[in-house]
Amino acid sequence: MTERCDNPFAGDPALEAVLSQHEPLAAHTWFGLGGPARWMARPQDIEQLAELTRRCVRAGLPLRVLGQGANLLVGDDGVDGLVVRLDRPVFKRIEWPAPEGPQGEEVTVRAAAGADLGRLTLEAVRRGLAGLECMAGIPGTVGGAVRMNAGGRFGQISDVIRSVRVMHRDGRQGVVPREEAGFAYRRSGLGDVLILEAELALRRDDPRRLHERYRAVWEVKRRTQPLRENSAGCVFKNPPGHSAGALIDRAGLKGRKVGGACVAREHANFIVAREGATASDVLELIGQIRDEVSDRFGVDLELEIELWGCRSSGGARAGTGAVGTA
Ligand code: FAD
Ligand code: EPU
Repeated sequence: MTERCDNPFAGDPALEAVLSQHEPLAAHTWFGLGGPARWMARPQDIEQLAELTRRCVRAGLPLRVLGQGANLLVGDDGVDGLVVRLDRPVFKRIEWPAPEGPQGEEVTVRAAAGADLGRLTLEAVRRGLAGLECMAGIPGTVGGAVRMNAGGRFGQISDVIRSVRVMHRDGRQGVVPREEAGFAYRRSGLGDVLILEAELALRRDDPRRLHERYRAVWEVKRRTQPLRENSAGCVFKNPPGHSAGALIDRAGLKGRKVGGACVAREHANFIVAREGATASDVLELIGQIRDEVSDRFGVDLELEIELWGCRSSGGARAGTGAVGTA
């Protein structure tokens, strides 16, 4: 049972039943770092999600959606406001096309925002549906992948998105066609919305061929990235014409440590969090990397990872990641 004072969710027992307070976020992120969320909700259905967003707007409370926390650094003091997780079955549903059809045929797959991207990708490969193999080795949810336009040199998720179903802050739903979603390198221009579902256009192909492509992408990742350690993937975006990893490497920063945070030896654009690391260690290391790369090469590195509740440190630009605070 939640407290009544200062509780914008009071008075609706069903809503209160899906809420917790002071939920540690470290357990929900790939870095394994960060303090608690003032509120966390795991809504049972779309109507509950709509009610949560409406209540947050009314109370002026920031609302953030958490996927699998694979691209996030949460500050040591945690975050104010509400963090929503879309991990109930209705938010993880995937609708597949009929199993049979001619090779090359374009088919529609609808994947809800909370669905696991890795499972979606593998299942698409198994069913002989081409277009997602390039996502091999990218952890997270469909919602997180759409928001970040996840991908790499093998392709990005927006290549196969036809439209995105979203919820606005007032609880209304809408559909945004790909052309209006503002996809670019590692960004979407969807703005202040909650992503509910992606409609994907895949193509029928030979499952064996798809599996080979998937394995090839996976093998590159396995060889070049520290996939077994706690990280949030690449910390910085590649600046136009450069590779951030190569610049950090050339600056001699591989192995640089602050507390338990360390620049990975396998790939210099990954920071790994080892025993005893704090979010402040990672932020301090980010600041050192930015300063040294700027001094050596005159290039300003822009963060790819999102910062939640982090105080700006050493040049790490902090965004709030919150919906509904504008
Ligand atoms: P989170 O990290 O939980 O959230 C990221 C952002 O998306 C946040 O702003 C969050 O609020 C928002 N968000 C999440 N769900 C929703 C929703 N339903 N509605 C609105 N907003 C939402 N990324 C790549 O692009 N390419 C790679 O090759 C790659 N490799 C990686 C390898 C490793 C080992 C790791 C740890 C990360 C890697 N990443 C990579 C980063 C990460 O996997 C992607 O950014 C992924 O898409 C994040 O998904 P998530 O569900 O974890 O999102
Ligand atoms: N390089 C180095 N040293 C390093 C790392 C890389 O010299 O420590 C060199 C490589 O040898 C290569 C070049 O830099 O010549 C590019 O490296 P890589 O092929 O690893 O690609 P990247 O640009 O560093 C991008 C994405 C990754 C994605 C891979 C593969 C960005 C910021 N990174 O990495 O995405 O997995 O391509 O598709 O766009 C992520 O976004 O979190 C992420 C991991």
